[in-house]
Amino acid sequence: MIPTDPLPTDRMPTVALPAGTAVPALGQGPWHMGEVRARAAAEAAALRDGIDRGLTLIDTAEMYGDGGAERVVAQAIAGVRDRVFLVSKVLPQNASAAGLAKACAASLQRLGTDRIDLYLLHWRGSHTLAETVAGFERLRAAGQILRWGVSNFDTDDMTELAALPAGAACATNQVLYHPDHRGIEFDLLPWCRAHRMPIMAYSPLGQAGRLLRSPALGAVARRHGATPAQVAIAWSRRAGATIAIPKAATPEHVRQNAAAAAIVLTPADLAEIDAAHPPPRRKQPLGML
Ligand SMILES: NC(=O)c1ccc[n+]([C@@H]2O[C@H](COP(=O)([O-])OP(=O)(O)OC[C@H]3O[C@@H](n4cnc5c(N)ncnc54)[C@H](OP(=O)(O)O)[C@@H]3O)[C@@H](O)[C@H]2O)c1
Repeated sequence: MIPTDPLPTDRMPTVALPAGTAVPALGQGPWHMGEVRARAAAEAAALRDGIDRGLTLIDTAEMYGDGGAERVVAQAIAGVRDRVFLVSKVLPQNASAAGLAKACAASLQRLGTDRIDLYLLHWRGSHTLAETVAGFERLRAAGQILRWGVSNFDTDDMTELAALPAGAACATNQVLYHPDHRGIEFDLLPWCRAHRMPIMAYSPLGQAGRLLRSPALGAVARRHGATPAQVAIAWSRRAGATIAIPKAATPEHVRQNAAAAAIVLTPADLAEIDAAHPPPRRKQPLGML
């Protein structure tokens, strides 16, 4: 029996950002939504279904569908904006002082809202971190974003960021994390933990590829009456300081993913997953998609 009954939305587990705000530990990502006009309504309906099931954190980016994903998110959150914690990302080439202001204004317009709850630098580019952080702080002072963070930053990038005058305001680092990409456990996760900063785990389902065919995930899933995808989500959240953002465009996937919030893996489950998907023994370069 696959658990498809989600937790009551007010019981969705939360994670505290460094400044103390509690956000849902499980959200939704719309990469590849908004690319085909004929699919947009169904994609928005899937996101809205997720919101109603407690997946109220939505991650998007100006890059996805060249703005199309933000338009789909706008449809999904229409009328329920205040229930949603909205995350979007700026492309590195737009992360100059002037570029940020323009990119953020365009994202706000596509999203149909007056503020982004968390605005991330998608990955590091050629603009200095000092300029980008100053730009983020200006947007924050203007109320267009409520907080900012980064994505695809390795430990040395985080150290450099934290040394800037406003660097401590960084709310999160969104990185690739699933059982076949555990490199961050060696140094980046401990660094974030020491700074009380949750990570956002992207592609927690390994993009529904080889990971979901893992015999170890399959065995654990059978014990819980769950699916391998639900086990992958529970695994990514197991340490309590991770926000997982699976992407789902079908009603059944949305239902399963919301219900995964209730799954708690046992030490025996984790050991079985470790044996098949071992943790890192040394520093590994940060994985990126
Ligand atoms: N910061 C970055 O650089 C970065 C990079 C990559 C991703 N991200 C973010 O992370 C989000 C998620 O990552 P992702 O989209 O790459 O991959 P993902 O969430 O690991 O996998 C998405 C795939 O899994 C399928 N799926 C969803 N729920 C399932 C379930 N319960 N059982 C079986 N299959 C299921 C989806 O199918 P359907 O769509 O058909 O339901 C889709 O094909 C993105 O949407 C984006 O917001 C950020």
